Amino acid sequence: MPGKFISIEGGDGAGKSTQLQVIGDTLHRNHIEFVQTREPGGTPIGEALRDLLLEKTDHTLSDDTELLLMFAARAEHVNSVIKPALKRGKWVVSDRFSDASFAYQGARGVELSRIQGLADWVLQGFMPDLTLFFDLPLEQGLARVDKRGKPDRFENESITYKARVQEIYRARAAAEPERICLIDASYDIQGVSAQVRDQIQVYIDGLPTAA
Ligand code: TYD
Repeated sequence: MPGKFISIEGGDGAGKSTQLQVIGDTLHRNHIEFVQTREPGGTPIGEALRDLLLEKTDHTLSDDTELLLMFAARAEHVNSVIKPALKRGKWVVSDRFSDASFAYQGARGVELSRIQGLADWVLQGFMPDLTLFFDLPLEQGLARVDKRGKPDRFENESITYKARVQEIYRARAAAEPERICLIDASYDIQGVSAQVRDQIQVYIDGLPTAA
């Protein structure tokens, strides 16, 4: 496809929202048109599912249902937003994509091979061209989330759960170093921004033809 697909990932509090701006600025400087989006979300159906999935309510949600809803939102997002934009030659920057399902739903105890089966079924091999993974020591992430006000359903989870999320993300980054680029998010904003700018620029400069 003519455009490139970038996703950003990391545990909560890793500062990825702030860094979306840095990615956007770097793409602008390189005259690359892009669409910014997020998961769960990015479409009317996806945003409605996001509300259900993140809201803290009394109704129960089984681990399989949570996983299926994440992928239902993703199917809609890929088919009606991401792929059409890439086909038009635009780049797409998504705040989270399928790595998050392995990390967050895998940490619930859903077998990673089952998640992979679902990913194969829904995405048929479609994956980001580049993923920036914001890696942050757990304690630092917890402290940052504490300062942000009302926690969502995932931010409210136990430290053990969050440690498993991080472990799965790190294992995926180690297994796919070509696609997943590790950003050390323990630095201050300037330090993290500099890494992000550099990595995006290196990626752009490494492309066979100018975008
Ligand atoms: P997040 O991206 O952290 O948004 P904000 O920065 O606005 O809080 O919120 C999305 C949450 O959804 C996050 O805690 C991870 C979770 N999530 C999953 O559990 N599975 C998924 O597949 C995706 C995309 C997100």
